[in-house]
Amino acid sequence: MYNNFKMKSYFFETYGCEMNIAESAAVEQLFIARGWQRSESAQTADVAVINTCSIRETAENRILGRLGWFSGLKAVRECKLGAKTKMLEEALEYVKDGPKPLTLIVMGCMAERLLKSFQKDYPFIDYVVGTYAKHHFSEIISAVEEGRKPFELDDSEKYRFASLSAEPGAFSTFVPIMHGCNNFCTYCIVPYARGRERSRDFGKIVSELETLKEQGYKEVMLLGQNVNSYGLNNEEGKTFKDVLEAASDIGFNRVRFMSSHPKDLSDEVIDLMADRDNIEKHLHLAMQSGSNRILKLMNRPYTIEQFLDIAYKFRSRVKEGSLTTDIIVGFPGETEEDFEQTLDAVRKAGFDAAFTFQYSPRPGTKAASFDDQVPKDIVSARFDRLLKLQNDLAYKSNEARVGRSYEVLIEGISKAGAGTYTARTLSNHLVNFTIPEDILPKGCLEDLEGRLGIVKIERARPYSIDGVLERFSDV
Ligand code: 5AD
Ligand code: SF4
Repeated sequence: MYNNFKMKSYFFETYGCEMNIAESAAVEQLFIARGWQRSESAQTADVAVINTCSIRETAENRILGRLGWFSGLKAVRECKLGAKTKMLEEALEYVKDGPKPLTLIVMGCMAERLLKSFQKDYPFIDYVVGTYAKHHFSEIISAVEEGRKPFELDDSEKYRFASLSAEPGAFSTFVPIMHGCNNFCTYCIVPYARGRERSRDFGKIVSELETLKEQGYKEVMLLGQNVNSYGLNNEEGKTFKDVLEAASDIGFNRVRFMSSHPKDLSDEVIDLMADRDNIEKHLHLAMQSGSNRILKLMNRPYTIEQFLDIAYKFRSRVKEGSLTTDIIVGFPGETEEDFEQTLDAVRKAGFDAAFTFQYSPRPGTKAASFDDQVPKDIVSARFDRLLKLQNDLAYKSNEARVGRSYEVLIEGISKAGAGTYTARTLSNHLVNFTIPEDILPKGCLEDLEGRLGIVKIERARPYSIDGVLERFSDV
């Protein structure tokens, strides 16, 4: 009997932000706990989970395209007559002895936003798991194990945090501490897809952090749509500064966090970042626009002067810190003058890096119905100008590091070429480095993931810096 036994396998395809990555990891834990195995290919997995993102139309279109492919895959796996077989060779081989159905699950923001239309128009999806229905995963896994038909999900409950999102064996992990958003920026789908802000119990966060430390994790990333708004709606009286301090006290090598909202960034948090050696010297603070008129239309509750004040404070308090941001180009009504103000603010803040986006109208948001949408060609020309300015700034930020030595946390072998490793500094700069023979003889390709070392920086590139390892700093 054991000869015929095949461990069941799952496959994940995750789009979007860190929150999604963390939530996929949490669901993955459920599969692992039930003895399932990870499959690198959807074509031969028993369950495929697609964790989706709605933030821009391009993200949704890409996922809809993938769903087309998955519908073909399901047909092949069920040996349906007339199934299209292009790019499904592995699945064809897999079903040569007969049908082996695949259970397809769609979760994440699109699942929440398009729940009804997915259920109606995409009948090949077995489960559409909205934001509030994630705790049904255990039941779903049982149903697949027992060969039962898909059942209806009840999504009327409140959001629940997973108890542990960590991937076993990794050195770095995410810890969601808050979820959702109350801000209703007029362009953004998140408050609709993720619901209102909820902060996780302080005690539960601390006990998860302690468990992770015991398990040997070196780095944690505290996560939330507005991570620094933690606790503001709770009666516990704890704030983001308390969580950050607790994580630092527990003694991880590195504590990171994402994303911060300018309106709730306290001086206390900046001071803590400056004072603690194990808190990253990196602040990601979305500016969105440099024009006060546009910020108002976006419903962002700060002026550009207030934003720059925080940027200057961070620069003066946090030594060699790196400041990164998100910027939207072509928001409805954006004039050349508004855009010039964005360029000016970018120069003043001197961002080390920026995620820049072309405005994408999201159905149901306020801005989607604003009259004066900016023509595509103007948006794309402005976008190119912003990108060029930001690339110059990013290069300068990298160049400023040349000749100095930094402690880095090693992430693994680099794509940059043989014998090169990749790592990050405490300021979140990406470093590619080589290791001299007297430290690690050639051919001894050791597993260095999660090790700490001191790297001397020798050369700047547009998006990374190159260096040589001087020594390991964790022995
Ligand atoms: N169009 C373009 N960019 C957007 N973002 C959010 N919504 C939109 C949209 N409709 C960007 C914001 C946000 C980041 C995660 O995505 O800059 O900070
Ligand atoms: Fe979206 Fe604004 Fe909330 Fe960020 S703060 S998730 S941009 S609504």
